[in-house]
Amino acid sequence: MEVIIQRTSRSASAYAGRLVSRLLQEKPAAVLGLATGETPLALYKEVTGLHREEGLDFSNVTTFNLDEYLGLGPEHPASYHFFMHEHLFRHINVPSSRIHIPDGLAKNVPAFCEGYEKAILDAGGIDLQVLGIGTDGHIGFNEPGSSLASRTRIKTLTNRTREDNARFFQSTEEVPHHVITMGVGTIMDARHIVLLAFGERKAASVAAAVEGPITAMVPASILQMHPRVTCLMDEASASQLKRADYYRWVFQQKPDWQQP
Ligand code: GLP
Repeated sequence: MEVIIQRTSRSASAYAGRLVSRLLQEKPAAVLGLATGETPLALYKEVTGLHREEGLDFSNVTTFNLDEYLGLGPEHPASYHFFMHEHLFRHINVPSSRIHIPDGLAKNVPAFCEGYEKAILDAGGIDLQVLGIGTDGHIGFNEPGSSLASRTRIKTLTNRTREDNARFFQSTEEVPHHVITMGVGTIMDARHIVLLAFGERKAASVAAAVEGPITAMVPASILQMHPRVTCLMDEASASQLKRADYYRWVFQQKPDWQQP
């Protein structure tokens, strides 16, 4: 796991933007795994800017989103379809036929999930997966206790996550109980994982994920088993890391050829 602590979420997001940009230069038909929530917003702004100002091309890119609320259609303002369109897709040139987001209105959820897994495989697998982290250590919507080998499926949200995400709805009651999410195993199949974490409220789950034991009680901790994870965080979310000084030192020594 490479842990990169930046002074602000903005500089961490700019770094993540350069990782995306470098990937697309090397592989214009890359497959991106995308996340929602407040955390990746600055990255999406960054990438949108690179598209507008430097012509970063998404015309051959394929995207797969991590998750979606069950029961919400794409027009619902709190749906992840709506979110992605609003914050990223309408600003870049990715063809809509290459955009994949779990269908919150799927009639046959298990069949949909099986098809989603197959679509990822058919696209050649995910090259770069963007991830946030929940305050309870979830990734995607894989709540504590999720099988570390799980695949795309239905999950029931914890009340903590429903309360955390209530800010995107009118009230907590409105937050759906069920979601479709890529599994932990699905996420682990990505070739490169970029985990973003910002703010004090993520400090405990970041410390548990990066320096704690690997356990299904903190699904993000399985990332320690992945060969290529870049954790980009700000000072606040890194505040409970025991080896923060070491990570800073490693980053300062990073050879130029490893920089995006
Ligand atoms: C939701 C999403 C996760 C995201 C998490 C953190 O639960 N399903 O993918 O990482 O929220 O959200 P935020 O970035 O808003 O803190």
